[in-house]
Amino acid sequence: MSKIEIKKLVKRYGEHQALHGIDISIPQGEFCVLVGPSGCGKSTTLRMVAGLETISGGDVVIGDRVVNGLKAKDRGIAMVFQNYALYPAKTVYNNMAFSLQLSKMPKPEIAKRIADVAEILELTPLLDRKPGALSGGQRQRVAMGRAIVRDPEVFLFDEPLSNLDAKLRGQMRAEIKRLHQRLKNTIIYVTHDQVEAMTLADKIVIMKDGRIEQQGTPDEVFHDPDTLFVAGFMGSPPMNLIECFATDKGIKLPSVEIACDMPSAVRPGDKLVFGIRSDDIRPAEDGFEGVSISANVNLIEQLGTENLVHFSLGPDEMIGKTGGRTRITPNQEVSFTLQMQHAYFFDPETGRRLR
Ligand SMILES: Nc1ncnc2c1ncn2[C@@H]1O[C@H](COP(=O)(O)OP(=O)(O)O)[C@@H](O)[C@H]1O
Ligand SMILES: [Mg+2]
Repeated sequence: MSKIEIKKLVKRYGEHQALHGIDISIPQGEFCVLVGPSGCGKSTTLRMVAGLETISGGDVVIGDRVVNGLKAKDRGIAMVFQNYALYPAKTVYNNMAFSLQLSKMPKPEIAKRIADVAEILELTPLLDRKPGALSGGQRQRVAMGRAIVRDPEVFLFDEPLSNLDAKLRGQMRAEIKRLHQRLKNTIIYVTHDQVEAMTLADKIVIMKDGRIEQQGTPDEVFHDPDTLFVAGFMGSPPMNLIECFATDKGIKLPSVEIACDMPSAVRPGDKLVFGIRSDDIRPAEDGFEGVSISANVNLIEQLGTENLVHFSLGPDEMIGKTGGRTRITPNQEVSFTLQMQHAYFFDPETGRRLR
């Protein structure tokens, strides 16, 4: 098992700079998730750690070794990609055995390793089948098994679940988490899915345009975002974000003034972005404490256990939340409670959080 240090990592593809000097420190046994929109540099980072991409600047350290000059096969890593290719003509057993056979491991040891890993991944009854006779989820587990039997110091995953349907994705997510609790490997896991990031990570690194926006525990990046981008990216539905002006008592939106405590750096007249999550906007009848506003309901999204209530506040649309058994209907005037102690404020120019 090994720690990983990424230091001032830079990647240039010709004129294009894909990574602008990123720093991530991953202690031994940590599950680190890189998340961000398509093209932000997640795969590039992972591939540089793996040794599949040259390093334009900075260092990658695995354990105590700077590995910049080492070949992929000498870095003690195993990688699972989105498009994992299993050998179609080989059985599950032989798919998992292949890399061990290449490394000339004695047959009995190969058999033992595969038996152990198959047990963990519930593949034991499938060892004689070929990939064509497996479901998508089973194939995914074989791809993971093939990585695990190598007993790598470090696991690298690049969107390994994105080809699966939603239900299977949920199951595999839980399985990967269980696996990590059991094996305690150091993991870097890339996804564009913020739910996957929140549920799997010890540490989340949120990337944008080849830079790190914020890194922290799931709790920190969700409840204490440093930037407008992180606030809008983490969470579903996304945080309500509305332009407004500071007053001497709170904020002025286009159609309503709201009294609230303001960050100390803010002066009356300053232009701000006001952020509040749906969880903190409830119909008054739900009985929460906060600031009351009245608004017209546009749409109810039924999610079963809860409903999302879309409503207009002047030119802005906001989304609040209520229980699944609500009787609120569209085109109704409803009184909402904003729990302003959970409001966020951002500088619209820099995108930085105002505290
Ligand atoms: N082989 C390449 N040649 C040129 N540009 C590349 C190459 N690979 C990736 N890029 C560019 O680098 C940026 C980051 O890509 P990537 O790391 O694949 O993003 P992500 O995995 O976050 O979606 C993108 O702008 C992409 O177009
Ligand atoms: Mg990618």
